[in-house]
Amino acid sequence: MRKQGAWALAIQKKRWPLMILALFSLSTATVFFMRTSFDSCITSTTSISCSINSITDDFGEEKDTSTQIFSAALVGSATPNPLDFMNSKLVLLVSHELSLSGGPLLLMELAFLLRGVGSEVVWITNQKPAEPEDVVYSLEHKMLDRGVQVLSARSQKAIDTALKADLVVLNTAVAGKWLDAVLKEKVPHVLPKVLWWIHEMRGHYFKVEYVKHLPFVVGAMIDSHTTAEYWKNRTRERLGIKMPKTYVVHLGNSKDLMEVAEDSVARRILREHVRESIGVRTEDLVFAIINSVSRGKGQDLFLRSFHESLQLIKEKKVQVPPMHAVIVGSDMNAQMKYETELRNFVQEKKIQDHVHIVNKTLTVTPYLASIDVLVQNSQARGECFGRITIEAMAFQLPVLGTAAGGTMEIVVNGTTGLLHPVGKEGVTPLAVNILKLATHVERRLTMGKKGYGRVKERFLEHHMSHRIALVFNEVLQKAKSHTNSRILILFGTWIDHRLYNCLRRD
Ligand SMILES: *[C@@H]1O[C@H](CO)[C@@H](O)[C@H](O)[C@H]1NC(C)=O
Ligand SMILES: *[C@@H]1O[C@H](CO)[C@@H](O)[C@H](O)[C@H]1NC(C)=O
Ligand SMILES: *[C@@H]1O[C@H](CO)[C@@H](O)[C@H](O)[C@H]1NC(C)=O
Repeated sequence: MRKQGAWALAIQKKRWPLMILALFSLSTATVFFMRTSFDSCITSTTSISCSINSITDDFGEEKDTSTQIFSAALVGSATPNPLDFMNSKLVLLVSHELSLSGGPLLLMELAFLLRGVGSEVVWITNQKPAEPEDVVYSLEHKMLDRGVQVLSARSQKAIDTALKADLVVLNTAVAGKWLDAVLKEKVPHVLPKVLWWIHEMRGHYFKVEYVKHLPFVVGAMIDSHTTAEYWKNRTRERLGIKMPKTYVVHLGNSKDLMEVAEDSVARRILREHVRESIGVRTEDLVFAIINSVSRGKGQDLFLRSFHESLQLIKEKKVQVPPMHAVIVGSDMNAQMKYETELRNFVQEKKIQDHVHIVNKTLTVTPYLASIDVLVQNSQARGECFGRITIEAMAFQLPVLGTAAGGTMEIVVNGTTGLLHPVGKEGVTPLAVNILKLATHVERRLTMGKKGYGRVKERFLEHHMSHRIALVFNEVLQKAKSHTNSRILILFGTWIDHRLYNCLRRD
């Protein structure tokens, strides 16, 4: 009961819908959905290919006030919103699906940023489940509440909007299917104002049927330099097409996440609660992977490294606190074979007391508050960006990451974390790095602080808005000049005609 008292106090003091939600979300996603009705925030998801791990309801508290007032408040504040020039622009957002995975949630985040500056935002979802779904219903209503118009992807209205829009954002490679299927012969009219936001880098996305219009859109926006490079190579070598002008836009942490991360009371309460729920004591040391459980995310290799580090500790007789490995993101239904493999390994090595496997959850903040080190062990080409990495850094956690993909653009090796190679070659280096952070407390804490500093410098929501604003600005100019040149050509032919008539008359 003592604990509840502390809770009530914290809530009264902070009035945080987020913290309450954070605790709710310790149960599974489904339960979370049944209990809350989206009036506050969805913080994160771990079930995504590209690890864009969170979305938050940034204007949560202003829910009842109009967008107009909110944007006025923004304009009035010291720093003008970089997206202000989008005021009254018509933007069509094309999502391949509507779900709690990273891509759609990130697009929703953009929708709300644009609403915040007074853009007219229209949303369409290309692929919808045959049966009505609670998640789709809830997300659509969340958008309608914020003044986003939701249209059917195949409606005439959607086509009209595409033709009228100042900007069309196609989200993910797969959304490309919508162009031909719906716009048909009007595709060429719309392409010059399409900005393609790409978050994936798996081979099966390089299909002509998805991306054949890519060379003709006004621009592509990609989450990391590595991924942009990879798209450039693959489209050229596999499909023989050329990427349009490509902009790299690193993601940023939401305001809600930063609010929790920067509140020591909240962090402490969440930390106590989660540690108690998984059976880890205050002084224990926790290394965690927070990602959907799958071979690509490297949980198996992490467990091998962790086991190796325990052996090193025994061999060298070093003094460290009790160590734990936590894997957040389990989904038995999705990855039965792999999950069984993980559990068998734990049994075989008799490390049950040290390993905790937690079901996938919608919000990761409670876990970020309760662990000591984030492990980002994505394999092969790594993460496209890896939003969980910047989220962990916001919580002053050092990161042990694979030297691949977006992780390399976020983690400064030796300063905000330590990098190890992908694959089996990485197992021992990761074990050694785990040991390093376990034995050097000061170093671990300093790395965490530096990581936080790096987030404050470049991975906040306003940084992301600023980067997106630069892209939108350029893309709008180009789209406009394209329209203008078409008008000029038309005008040109008309003059020719008149001239011709004049000459004939003479
Ligand atoms: C792209 O191709 C070039 C040369 O073919 C190569 O050097 C580079 O590593 C490739 N980049 C990626 C990300 O695959
Ligand atoms: C985790 O998910 C499985 C099904 O995937 C379920 O059977 C189990 O009860 C869940 N565990 C918790 C603690 O919610
Ligand atoms: C990271 O730093 C360590 C130690 O300085 C070094 O051995 C390793 O090669 C570096 N890795 C990368 C990918 O830079």
